[in-house]
Amino acid sequence: MKPITSIFDLEAMAKDRLPAVIFDYVHGGSEQQITLQRNVNDMRALALRQHDLRNVADRKLAVTMVGDPARIPLAIGPTGLAGLTWPNGECEAARAAADFGVPYCLSTMSINSIEDVAEATGKPFWFQLYLMKEHNVNENLIRRAHDAGCSALVLTLDLHVQGKRWADEKNGLSVPPKLTLHNAVDMAKHMGWMLSMVKSKRRTFGNLEHEVAQVKNLSALTQWIESQFDPSFDFDTVKWVRKQWDRKLILKGIMLADDARLAIDAGADAIIVSNHGGRQLDGAPSSISVLPGIADAVRDRIEVLFDGGIRTGADIVKALGRGAHACLSGRACLYGLAANGREGVDCALKLFEDELNDCMALTGLKTLDHVPAEAVTAQPSL
Ligand SMILES: Cc1cc2nc3c(=O)[nH]c(=O)nc-3n(C[C@H](O)[C@H](O)[C@H](O)COP(=O)(O)O)c2cc1C
Repeated sequence: MKPITSIFDLEAMAKDRLPAVIFDYVHGGSEQQITLQRNVNDMRALALRQHDLRNVADRKLAVTMVGDPARIPLAIGPTGLAGLTWPNGECEAARAAADFGVPYCLSTMSINSIEDVAEATGKPFWFQLYLMKEHNVNENLIRRAHDAGCSALVLTLDLHVQGKRWADEKNGLSVPPKLTLHNAVDMAKHMGWMLSMVKSKRRTFGNLEHEVAQVKNLSALTQWIESQFDPSFDFDTVKWVRKQWDRKLILKGIMLADDARLAIDAGADAIIVSNHGGRQLDGAPSSISVLPGIADAVRDRIEVLFDGGIRTGADIVKALGRGAHACLSGRACLYGLAANGREGVDCALKLFEDELNDCMALTGLKTLDHVPAEAVTAQPSL
């Protein structure tokens, strides 16, 4: 087998191993995928300043993220249904993150439950919350995350309604995947994935299946979830969450400086500048393009984290140079998980570390505490 030299190799392996219905879900964005493409293209378009003649023999990659140690400035971001890509996928990814030494964030919409992940890692992780219309479910999820020892709650702000992902609608994505003739043929072509999934401890949304007493079967559970995303959500709701949670609170999905200021007023410890990886508002700007304005508005009062389009270690340097304290990875680590489980996630993290280390050497950076804005510029036109 040829060596795996980049995240793009993991992406190709994930594509080979997964049925299209699952790969399209992982890989795709909403509607025309304009924002998804902007995230990746705008990141690529940034130029790094080559800075020689510095002694960069000793380089320090480690940082802390909301007080948690991070061997590199990258956490694994929340991704729903990760457990459909690999058996017990969330537990495996959380273990890989804990062994490597970066934070792991579990999604509300995971297949493994909060308690499964706590048992699998024995280390604190972050829990991402989608607020549901039924407030007792929110209270229960927050309490369960607290009891499981989660060190941070990541409240996602940008899911008032679910973005339309055309491929998922066409493929009939459901949990577990629907056995239409088309999907059955597709799955039969991916026997390795099919056989491996028999080892899954769970088949549905592990965090929600016992929360909703009136829901008796899987399709009713999916319908219930779809009806629960709450468009009335505003900053009073954030203040309510702040009162329920006495550990670190991170607000995910900030794309405006004004919202970042409100987040500080609401008592957040950090924000994540994010457009949900181009899966929600199609047409929104790339997250990297709005990052400097938001970082300026926050002026180090709380941590500014960033996601969207991180595919290499150099992308992390770019985000830090544009004002982020650290980053989260969605798809890149999920490709690793889908390609080869815990080892695939470890491989993705090591690729990031290696690339980051090289990029620091070539841009004259010894630490990542303060990456100067001049280190990252728009590519000058010829
Ligand atoms: C398959 C998939 C599922 C996701 N599920 C969630 C989720 O459950 N909660 C959430 O806050 N964000 C979710 N996201 C968004 C990611 O947390 C993150 O914002 C985004 O993936 C970052 O962009 P990147 O994939 O380019 O790294 C998901 C993203 C993907 C790709």
